[in-house]
Formats: sequence, C-alpha cells, structure tokens
Amino acid sequence: MRKYMIAGNWKMNMLRHEASELTRNIISGVADIKHDLDILLAPPYTSLDVVRGLIEGTKIKLSAQDVFWEDRGAYTGEISPTMLLDAGCEWTIIGHSERRGILDETDSIVRKKIDASLNDGLNVIACVGETLEQRENGETIDIVKTQVESAIAGLDIDDTSRFVIAYEPVWAIGTGKNATPEQSEDVHAAIREITGNIFGQDFEQLRIIYGGSVKVDNIKELLEMENIDGALIGGAGLNADSFVKIVKMAGE
Ligand code: PGA
Repeated sequence: MRKYMIAGNWKMNMLRHEASELTRNIISGVADIKHDLDILLAPPYTSLDVVRGLIEGTKIKLSAQDVFWEDRGAYTGEISPTMLLDAGCEWTIIGHSERRGILDETDSIVRKKIDASLNDGLNVIACVGETLEQRENGETIDIVKTQVESAIAGLDIDDTSRFVIAYEPVWAIGTGKNATPEQSEDVHAAIREITGNIFGQDFEQLRIIYGGSVKVDNIKELLEMENIDGALIGGAGLNADSFVKIVKMAGE
C-alpha cells in the first residue's frame, strides 16, 4: 500500500504575511486528520522560514519548488540542496513544466538536480508531462518515457519513499482543464511499467502523483485510480479551505 502525498505548490505567490496566514489556516484544518499521508507545502524561497516556523511539530512537511545541482560556489541566484535542508526543507520539486517551458530547463538539467538532491539527502518530486500538441500527435507516452528514463536511469535510489514522480500534463496546468481520471491512469500505469523495467519490483512502491487543475470536485475520482498516489496542487492550494478539503478527501 503506497502512502498518499498531497503537495501544495504555491509557485510565485504569497508574500510572507500571506504565507503565514495560509499556513496557519492549513495547520488548523488538517490538525484532526488521523490517517497517514504526506502533506507538503512548497512556498517560494522567501517564505520558507515563515512556513517552517509554523509547521514545526505538525504533520506538514516543507518543500522547495526548485534547486541547483552544485553544493556551493559562484552561482549567482542559485540555491543548493544543502541550503534547502538547512532551511528546513525535506523535499524539493524538480523539472516543473513552468521551468522546462519558461526557463528552458532540459532533461539533462533536471537529471543533475535530481542526482545532487538525492545525494545530499533532499527528497525529490520529479515532474514529467506532455504538451497539448504532443498529446494531439499521440506522443504522450513517448515523451513521458523519455523524461522518466532521463530522470532515473542508472539512479541509485536505496529508498523509494524519497523519490516521487509527478505526472503533470502541461495542457492541464492552471487551465481548469484536468486530465480525466482514465487519461491520467493510462499515463501513470505506463510510468509504473517504465520505472519497473528500469528498477524491478522494488519500484512497485514508487509514488506517482497527478498534477494539473486538481480541485475539491475531482480529487476523489483521480485517487480512485490504481496508480494515482496523490496530487501536486497549484491554484487550489492557495486557498486553505480547498487545500484542506482535498487533504481530507485523500484520507477517506
Ligand atoms: P494547477 O497547478 O493545480 O494550478 O493546475 C498544478 C501544478 O503546476 O503543479
């Protein structure tokens, strides 16, 4: 049985006082949740310490939205895995489609970030997903296969609980147009097969979460799918009420 993960990716939103209010409301909303699932908040760098201070002693864990692959040195503007660990992060998101699309992050950059993070002790959510054009051309599985293989082939992962793949179809992110549970399940099942072929049976335990316009009214049907192990949530995670409802529904 794989433990669900619900992660809120705040993207470039939330000033520090807003981050504080949102976090407080989420903490009180999830306080009575009994079931065992991973709840992550990924604020922008500038609010990491605010959120860290508030979630201490709660079941919520801290994540960054990105990371650099070197440990220290002359890399203006970058933040290393060690620095994120020092700032209280247990996790980081890597390879989000907004970084791939807007900042030209390639599969090889994504791979360097994954290697550095896992080596340094930072857990990873690696994002993959196809564009609308690629889906319409019938290339979805090929694209995702290339991204997944590039992210993990030859990787030395001793503990699959430290590594999560997020399938996020680019056309479903921030558009209100989520992939149907069946569309998502097809890709999630393919990812499980691809990772299984690389790593063998151990990877049955790998969590594959879905992202792209997840909301209170579609989370349940998504999580009913066999290979969907949680969600990476953008817009709906900026509202404490909807984020808490999604977390609660993941436990029912
Ligand atoms: P969205 O974003 O929920 O706003 O579609 C998801 C994501 O980009 O992780």
